[in-house]
Parts: sequence; C-alpha cells; structure tokens
Amino acid sequence: MKTFNTVVLNITVAILDFLYKGRDYQRFWVLEEIARAPYFAFLSVLHFRESMGLRGPDHLYLMREHFDQSVNETEHLEYMESKGGNAYWIDRFLARHLVLIYYWVNVVYYWLFPKLAYHLSYEVEIHAADTYAKYLEKNGSDEKICAILNDELNHASELLQAMEKNLCQYTKITKLESI
Ligand SMILES: [Fe+2]
Ligand SMILES: [Fe+2]
Repeated sequence: MKTFNTVVLNITVAILDFLYKGRDYQRFWVLEEIARAPYFAFLSVLHFRESMGLRGPDHLYLMREHFDQSVNETEHLEYMESKGGNAYWIDRFLARHLVLIYYWVNVVYYWLFPKLAYHLSYEVEIHAADTYAKYLEKNGSDEKICAILNDELNHASELLQAMEKNLCQYTKITKLESI
C-alpha cells in the first residue's frame, strides 16, 4: 500500500507540475490548500474515536500535534494568499474541489489504516519541502519560503513519530479487545 501512496502522489504531482508550470505562488497555494486537509481529517477521526470510547494512550499527543500542524498550514496558506496564490477563480475552483475529495479520502483512510494515512501525508510533506527547495534553487534566497520549507520538514518528521505512536495505540486497543 505504501507503493500505492507513492504512485498516486507521483501522478498527482505530475498533473500539478504540468498545470502550474511557471505559476509558482498559484502552485504553492493549491498545494497548501490540499496538504492541510489530512490534519483536519485526523482530528475529525480522533474526535470521533474519543466519542466512541476508543481513546488510546497517545490520543492527546496526536490531537495537539495535528491541531498545531493544521494552524501552521493555515499560516502558510495565508502567506500564499498574500502573494496572489488564490487570485484566479480557476485555481480556487480546482483546489476547493480537490480538498473536498482529499479530506474525505483521509477520513476513511485514517480510520481504517492510520499508519498508511500518515505515510501518505509524510510523502506529501516531503514533496512540499522539495518543491520549495527547487524554488529557492531557481530564484535565490527567500527567508519566508525557507521558513515554510523547514516547517514542512518538521511536519514530515512529526508524522513519522505519529506513525509509531499510532501503531502502539492500535496494538494496545487490539490487545485489550482480545482479552
Ligand atoms: Fe505547508
Ligand atoms: Fe506541511
């Protein structure tokens, strides 16, 4: 399934690369709009799991992490908006439809296969960092983009940690249920 994540991501990236050639801030805005949806989805599932009495030992840790990540992604989005990333109707139309689908895909994916859902977002974060690195390589230093690139790398490493914690949580719940 990890290969499936990578293949889906590579196809999506190839389409976005084609559509957004030479339109850096529009591409960044679309990426930021889409990339933050999983964090809302993770929070939604965690809330629901909590309501169903399935709160695991790392529940609060994960809630805090994903809330902070979602706020941080909104800050990135606001910056891209300040640079005109959402100036055109067609970009807003594309991003908002993609995000609607991507949010629900992540809700189901995270509920059923949390580790794989984290892996998909990890790949997305690495791709985002790579996209910003290429921009800096081409356009020279930019303090704000550099800070955003570092945020994406932090998100990626936080997702790796969450992957391990979430696995523990599931193992414990499965063990409890089997008693
Ligand atoms: Fe971001
Ligand atoms: Fe991110």
